[in-house]
Amino acid sequence: MSTPAQGAALRVAVLISGRGSNLQALIDAIADGQLAADIVAVICNHSDAPGVERAEAAGLATYVAVRRDFASRAAHDEAMLRIAQEHGADLVVLAGFDRILSPAWTQAFPNRMINVHPSLLPAFAGGINPKPQADALAAGVKIAGCTVHIVTDDVDGGPIVAQAAVPVLPDDTVDTLANRILAQEHRLLPLVVQWFAEGCVRLENGRIVVPGVVPARWWSEV
Ligand code: GRF
Repeated sequence: MSTPAQGAALRVAVLISGRGSNLQALIDAIADGQLAADIVAVICNHSDAPGVERAEAAGLATYVAVRRDFASRAAHDEAMLRIAQEHGADLVVLAGFDRILSPAWTQAFPNRMINVHPSLLPAFAGGINPKPQADALAAGVKIAGCTVHIVTDDVDGGPIVAQAAVPVLPDDTVDTLANRILAQEHRLLPLVVQWFAEGCVRLENGRIVVPGVVPARWWSEV
């Protein structure tokens, strides 16, 4: 679906809003040689986000675009979209981005935008960290987790690419559960981006198929 030009690394634009630990997982996976991709732009919509420092420390092209500096939501969206396009992104990764993007984005990057969400979708869709984890805990589920999915105009409703499950332990707080899930996000997201780099993510009848992936890899014991 998103194969880079022959021999070229996948060009990835990453959108963040806060901590940026998933961005860091991508940076680290590239540095470790586990992910054959280039992060060509990091776009953040909060000037004080710690993720901005991570991006700059890694020497990445980093842009801060704060909503209040633009006349409208559409203008803000467009400015961010232009950055991703000008950097020739093959894939857009929403890694803790806290706003819903306009359909202009999904039109510009059809099936080439992914999001990481801290629940086993379609359960606990909507809401940003830590609401999905808090809702899972409140619901008393015994298994929680995270999902990487294709971004469509249906918020948190696009085709699921991969999920990782974790147990919910009796003495869990929102924080302990969120941290257990986050560790799996950091494992899952670089892996999924690598699948895109390899060009092996296929959409068939509305579902994602990744040949050769064995489901047994997708849960953690604790
Ligand atoms: C993660 O829990 C992710 O699932 C959600 O927002 C959080 C971002 O964390 N969409 P970080 O900024 O990557 O540390």
